[in-house]
Amino acid sequence: MPQLKELFVEELQDLLHAETQLVGALPKMAEAAHDPQLRQAFEKHLEQTQGHVERLKKVFELMGEKAQPKPCKAMLGLVEEGQETIEEGRDKEPMAADLALITAAQKIEHYEISGYGTVRGLARQLGELEAATLLSHTLGEEESADFLLTAVSKPLLQQASLDEMGAEVNLETTPASSSQPRRKKASSK
Ligand SMILES: [Fe+2]
Ligand SMILES: [Fe+2]
Repeated sequence: MPQLKELFVEELQDLLHAETQLVGALPKMAEAAHDPQLRQAFEKHLEQTQGHVERLKKVFELMGEKAQPKPCKAMLGLVEEGQETIEEGRDKEPMAADLALITAAQKIEHYEISGYGTVRGLARQLGELEAATLLSHTLGEEESADFLLTAVSKPLLQQASLDEMGAEVNLETTPASSSQPRRKKASSK
């Protein structure tokens, strides 16, 4: 197989493995999310991710290659970190847990964005324009998932800042003997 095509197919195999892992990981992230909008964002992206797997299979077909995944160690690591974030989040306040989940999810999206940017470029270079269009479509969905996560994080970050200011004011105005941080631990689900 010519070198460029070989590289293209290998990168597709890496992405296929990455996406397949995400189909398993995203429901867990959705379940762990406290904020309904964050949960929705994960659920929506799960549906998109299932489409990404199908689109990759179509690209393999276009290339006359078998859709065979090749272990993507980077995504294995990112998903493992995501799992840790979920577990650590059980001891955190909901807002902090959600912000940590968003951080883990955005690292995943950024990895995918870089992967799809590369394969789309390789597809164009190889003159595989139909494949490039399919990969472009997925790349667009990865980017919008990333934007959506940023949008969902904004009110959470604002609230977190307000809470911290409130906690500081509270500490300043409360006599030392009874200075208990005001932040209450919200009920975990
Ligand atoms: Fe994806
Ligand atoms: Fe994604």
